[in-house]
Amino acid sequence: MPNVVLVGAQWGDEGKGKVTDLIARDFDYVVRYQGGNNAGHTVIHGDKKLALHLIPSGIMYEKAVPVIGNGVVVNPQVLVEEMRMLEGEGLSCERLKISCDAHVIMPYHIELDKASEFRLGKNEIGTTNRGIGPCYQDKAARSGIRIQDLLDEHVFRMKVEAALEVKNAILKKVYGKRTFTVDEICEAYLPFAEIIRPHMAETAQLLNDALREGKHILFEGAQGTLLDIDHGTYPFVTSSSCCAGGAATGSGVGPTAIDRVLGIQKAYVTRVGAGPFPTELVYPENGGEGQDAIDGDLLCAEGREYGVTTGRKRRCGWFDAVIARYAAEVNGLTDIALTKLDVLSAFDTIKVCVAYECNGKRYDYFPMQQSVLFHAKPVYKTMPGWKGEDITKAKSFEDLPANAQAYIEELERLSGVKATIISVGPDRDQTFTSRLRRRPKSKSAASSAHPFCSKFIVS
Ligand code: GDP
Ligand code: IMO
Ligand code: MG
Repeated sequence: MPNVVLVGAQWGDEGKGKVTDLIARDFDYVVRYQGGNNAGHTVIHGDKKLALHLIPSGIMYEKAVPVIGNGVVVNPQVLVEEMRMLEGEGLSCERLKISCDAHVIMPYHIELDKASEFRLGKNEIGTTNRGIGPCYQDKAARSGIRIQDLLDEHVFRMKVEAALEVKNAILKKVYGKRTFTVDEICEAYLPFAEIIRPHMAETAQLLNDALREGKHILFEGAQGTLLDIDHGTYPFVTSSSCCAGGAATGSGVGPTAIDRVLGIQKAYVTRVGAGPFPTELVYPENGGEGQDAIDGDLLCAEGREYGVTTGRKRRCGWFDAVIARYAAEVNGLTDIALTKLDVLSAFDTIKVCVAYECNGKRYDYFPMQQSVLFHAKPVYKTMPGWKGEDITKAKSFEDLPANAQAYIEELERLSGVKATIISVGPDRDQTFTSRLRRRPKSKSAASSAHPFCSKFIVS
């Protein structure tokens, strides 16, 4: 029975929220396993676009239990605001479970994030300023504050006091910033504890019990492979394990429980924040010129590429098969959901990066040295587009123009993974399964298969 990890295969914002929402109905639990409110996952609810930062996108279905796992870092204020927002939309948060072991983002983490970015100046990472890095820093240093600490005012107060001795000194002496008092933090945070208390749980045990009962779990990754602390473009990464392996440590289930890994991939690539991006089409305002700058502007406009969390304009570029192959390997991808194919309908021709060149050497694989990635020139293959044809109403692979079909097949060939799900617009119904997967011959096998399996992944 498939338990599935859904993971961003690029630099985030690939459409994870949409795909999670789409398939969540087939699962009993939907689990966030890393990151925090640096994520911005868009789901469509009725005629409204909702942005989820912390709560799993599976909240949209009555049946699925949304779980915030131990690997997530939680800002209690953001969590409570998000719960209120969802309840205002008529979506109940009663089922939500939050791991007692998840770490808490404190006000000083946010100040330290901002101060450290400011100090880096032009070398900044371009973080979301949500305190993610400093919170994970404390977790690794074994001085963090966890959700369970909110349960006991005395313990919480003691831990805040100990933390502030160091944090205030750094804020004041290193960065010349404001300091915090124990009282102001306790006053701000303890009221949230009462709201969160009914949702706190031993989520690792909950999920393992569920597995024993034969329930199905969907792990919703945030950020993306190239932002992973180990496998991403370090130091221009986030501070958590976004890749599929993180699903096990960030939730407390063993890796043997995971059956499939679904990589979410845009039909082109975007990135927010700083760091290497070989296929970037640099915007005119950033010094880009010629056709590349025009194409970059067009991708941004057609794809509405503005950050859900920060509102920043995302950097855009052509599809990069080198990182696609890399993502396939480091995540062990079994399937791909290819999103935003409709955005490419604006182009006469479409480029795909098949390899890099640097200092006269060709790289078919992700280069070992970051400096190579910084200076890599993409080797492009140009493919004919399907300009002017509206593909947003396509309901099957066969409905797509021949050039769009050829484009998908080429991406599959280059990355070595089948695109099981194709998305041609932001709505749930603008999605179909690829013709490359057929129903099994035996009827009994099909009917006994899990819905996710029978609908989207049948090999
Ligand atoms: P996530 O962080 O991976 O969940 O992605 P975001 O929500 O940050 O960004 C994806 C954006 O693309 C959202 O605004 C989605 O509504 C939108 N989107 C998702 N799939 C498609 C698609 O196939 N076509 C178009 N045009 N938009 C899409
Ligand atoms: P979703 O889940 C895109 C980027 C930031 C910055 C780097 C580090 O919506 O795909 P952080 O605040 O995490 O310390 O910032 O990571 N980043 C994202 N980029 N999508 C995201 O999330 C991101 N979360 C963080 O822009 O470059
Ligand atoms: Mg996003």
